Amino acid sequence: MFKILITGVAGFIGSHTCVRLLNLGFDIVGIDNFHNSSHEVINSILKITNRKIVFYEADIRNSKKLCEIFKKEKPEAVIHFAGLKSVAESVEKPLEYYDNNVSGTICLCRVMEKFGIKKMIFSSSATVYENSNPPFDEESQVSAPKNPYGKTKFTIEQILFDLKDWDIALLRYFNPIGAHESGDLKESPLGIPNNLMPHIINTALGKMPFLTIFGNDYPTFDGTCVRDYIHVEDLSEGHSKALDFILNKKGIEVFNLGTGIGTSVLELIKIFEKTNKIKLKYKIGPRRLGDVAVCYALTEKSQNKLNWKPRFDIEKMCRDAWDAAL
Ligand code: NAD
Ligand code: UFG
Repeated sequence: MFKILITGVAGFIGSHTCVRLLNLGFDIVGIDNFHNSSHEVINSILKITNRKIVFYEADIRNSKKLCEIFKKEKPEAVIHFAGLKSVAESVEKPLEYYDNNVSGTICLCRVMEKFGIKKMIFSSSATVYENSNPPFDEESQVSAPKNPYGKTKFTIEQILFDLKDWDIALLRYFNPIGAHESGDLKESPLGIPNNLMPHIINTALGKMPFLTIFGNDYPTFDGTCVRDYIHVEDLSEGHSKALDFILNKKGIEVFNLGTGIGTSVLELIKIFEKTNKIKLKYKIGPRRLGDVAVCYALTEKSQNKLNWKPRFDIEKMCRDAWDAAL
């Protein structure tokens, strides 16, 4: 069976994808520096799959260490999740974001090239569409987003497009939420969370007195922002399909991973409340800088070329996220 190296394996999406690939029989070498995750996740992966991964606590910017790992493990392909992902933090610490995400990816690619490994799946983001009009397909115009985090994703995409003899699946995620059905894996960022679902969970758990909705004066049907939420398990399946794709095909391809369905912040709150029979306290606050009103995907290309279709609805996403939090 193929051996796949996963960077950011202890993170939210990396851990779910790792479990799926182990269950499909792939051998996994995992790397993480635990900047936004913990060692417990590696134990959870073993608990769920009853399979061990070869794990290295390492930073993708450490070229020497990466060389040792590639020399020893000889992976066939890399799924590259490792990165910093907070928009707000990136505005405060732009150099940290450019260094970690852009320099880190260049370092990783150089080591891959040195060892003749030229197959990669990269975690990009729908943020690269932020100056176009939704819904977005893969041909929609992309441009540099306004914040440094988004710029790192845009820049890395541009770098990867220049690697002509590589096989790359560039996956643009929309809004991943939910958790593994076992409840043993979930979104568990260290420090103050950035995204909406962790804030909903913390409010439901009483860790936060109330949730702030960032603006209700957007040009949407209820005034709050609309996003394309996708279950992390559907997202992880998208990676296994993309892996089949790059192992069998040549060149670089972009794929949206979303459901194509838009849900507003208020709708998500109501669905979470109804599904989990819980009341959430919330207040309307000012708009958050940099938010777009509406962001959702067109997913025909992923469905046709990857033979992938998301299966889980928003109720299941809310239920699994809450069950894993309890
Ligand atoms: P996450 O923070 O849960 O996981 C990222 C993992 O990478 C963490 O475990 C972290 O410790 C590790 N990491 C960070 N920098 C590293 C480094 N230099 N060396 C080694 N390990 C490092 O985030 P996630 O939600 O799982 O996201 C995974 C990827 O998907 C990221 O690149 C993110 O930008 C991208 N993405 C996420 C979302 C989202 O909403 N979650 C949306 C679009 C794109
Ligand atoms: N929101 C609130 N209150 C909160 C947190 C978020 O109202 O406490 C709102 C935001 O204003 C936004 C929506 O909930 O309207 C979703 O916000 P998230 O931060 O969860 O997600 P974003 O759409 O801003 O960004 C996410 C990822 C990015 C990725 C983008 C792609 O965090 O990495 O999706 O669409 F680029």
